[in-house]
Amino acid sequence: MSDAASRIDETRLWQRHVDMAKLGGLPKGGVNRQALSAEDAAARRLIGGWAQARGYDLFGDPIGNLYIRRAGTENDAAPVVTGSHMDSQPTGGKYDGIYGVLAGFEALEALDDAGIRTRRPVQVVAWMNEEGSRFQPGAMGSSVWSGHDDLEKMLSVTDREGVVLRDALARTLAEAPVRQVDGFDRNFHAYIEAHIEQGPRLEAGAKTIGVVTGIQGSQRYTLDIVGEEAHAGTTPLRVRKDALKSAVAIVSALERHMHDPADVVRFTVGRFECRPGSPNTVPGHVHFTIDFRHPDAAVLARLGSGIEAVAKAAVGPCSVTVQRITDVAPTVFDARIVDLVRDKANALGLPNMDMPSGAGHDAMHVAPFCPAGMIFVPCERGISHNEAEAATPSDLAAGARVLVASLEALANE
Ligand code: GLV
Ligand code: MN
Ligand code: MN
Repeated sequence: MSDAASRIDETRLWQRHVDMAKLGGLPKGGVNRQALSAEDAAARRLIGGWAQARGYDLFGDPIGNLYIRRAGTENDAAPVVTGSHMDSQPTGGKYDGIYGVLAGFEALEALDDAGIRTRRPVQVVAWMNEEGSRFQPGAMGSSVWSGHDDLEKMLSVTDREGVVLRDALARTLAEAPVRQVDGFDRNFHAYIEAHIEQGPRLEAGAKTIGVVTGIQGSQRYTLDIVGEEAHAGTTPLRVRKDALKSAVAIVSALERHMHDPADVVRFTVGRFECRPGSPNTVPGHVHFTIDFRHPDAAVLARLGSGIEAVAKAAVGPCSVTVQRITDVAPTVFDARIVDLVRDKANALGLPNMDMPSGAGHDAMHVAPFCPAGMIFVPCERGISHNEAEAATPSDLAAGARVLVASLEALANE
């Protein structure tokens, strides 16, 4: 085992997960630590304290991405970067995202503990708002970093309570202050993100490490159906403009549009809001979201471009507005990083398999700028975006070993 890999401390890494899970901890064992909440600020303070205790440089960029940098012997050399996100779903698990940040931090500590100096700096990033549950779209921090989304536009996004992201970010930075840098440094030498798999394949194949080859493409939409509020007891059906009935018809039509006998298309309506939400008023407004994904860019484009026409054909007496809020092409990871991760897993004697990612990750926005890849570790029954999400201390540590060995090699290039 490489010196750094042998210094990965399973107990320390596990304890850091336990400590983080207290921030936004929920009764059923999960966490609610949504982007730019008080719990997110607490997580930033916690890891910031650990970073300062180690003497690492801690800084943030204009969209709230947080960086922790371990110096190299040549500090002007482009850093090797690792990380993921610290925000969670509203009823999220204890590993989605935070594992990649904590495994990255563990890698820095293992390099320290092994007394290893690397030529390049090694840097951990906690990308802001990967989940996109509070502020849409998701993967926002990495998307703005990459220029895929516009900084000013994203700072103006509001959550469902009307809180503007710019204000939530200012509050977070007041509660968890760090040195702020202007602009976005995209000069990464390489990027590797560790994450739980969030699917069942590693467990089913009795593998410890997923060598991730790419990420399927994804699009998100919001749909607003406007009808007319009316009295439930008096209004005849023929004159009603019931936004809920229209929305249900649209969802059914979209299910048919997205139908895929091969079960590759992923189509989800995850938020569905009916207003005014009164039992005796015909609904006047429905707002819902579409998240859909496919590994093939052409299929993604064809199905996505049909959504508006399908919705308009099914809306009946109401009107519908369709807005696409994100469109991310499928990602193919750099073969050199994929090979490196596989080689390190093999050298550590860890059973592994190549696999694509069904879930989205910040790595998809980094991949156009530098050689990038990902490392997956198993999670119980593949369950994620669920408070029951579970992973074992030894699998988490195994992923961190592959990570530090890969980072060390890249940081000496
Ligand atoms: C990330 O959480 C995703 O939605 O894939
Ligand atoms: Mn995640
Ligand atoms: Mn997630």
